[in-house]
Amino acid sequence: MIKSSFRDDFSILAVTVTFVGAASLIGFIYYLDQQKASQQKKRQRAAVGKMAIGGPFSLITNERKPVTDKDFRGKWILIYFGFTHCPDICPEELEKLAEVTELLFRQKQKQPHPFQPVFVSVDPERDTPELITTYLKDYSPHFIGLTGTRDQVAEMCKHYRVYFSQGPKVGDDYIVDHAIVMYLINPDGEFVDYYGRNKNAKEVAYAIEQHMNAFKKKE
Ligand code: NI
Repeated sequence: MIKSSFRDDFSILAVTVTFVGAASLIGFIYYLDQQKASQQKKRQRAAVGKMAIGGPFSLITNERKPVTDKDFRGKWILIYFGFTHCPDICPEELEKLAEVTELLFRQKQKQPHPFQPVFVSVDPERDTPELITTYLKDYSPHFIGLTGTRDQVAEMCKHYRVYFSQGPKVGDDYIVDHAIVMYLINPDGEFVDYYGRNKNAKEVAYAIEQHMNAFKKKE
């Protein structure tokens, strides 16, 4: 009887030990999985960080003044890439950009850094500074237009991951297929946010104001 009772106790103990062991092993595996997942997330974030949008550029303004990214430090800039011969999308987006500008100029909270809307031509062959000046006047007196040599424009578009491609010529005319996006750059020259066609002027202005307020708090 004693032996058998001992055996029973022993087997209960063995089962318990096995169970606790298994549970902690499962726990440990779960812990490792969590560690792995969090490390993967960290790696993904680092990869996204490295894929940063923006970078140096060297172009000329619509007033033929040389300009680089550094000239915009201290300002919030909202950059739109397009071309003056664009039949429908650029006019729509530039109207939106003008409305965003008006909304931001009207905001109650004063911002320490001015807001500057910027148009960058992806059709430097046809978009002379003079043509850009005339074109932008129709939308807003606050826009700055930028253009340059084909290489300079291509270089900037590469940094901003803006795809553009000249279509076939019909007579002298052609269209330039291009990405439709607005990029927000903060006063430190860092990319902050982007807005596509799905966002209206009010939504874009509101989002920008939030970024401005957050930036002001950090300063
Ligand atoms: Ni366009």
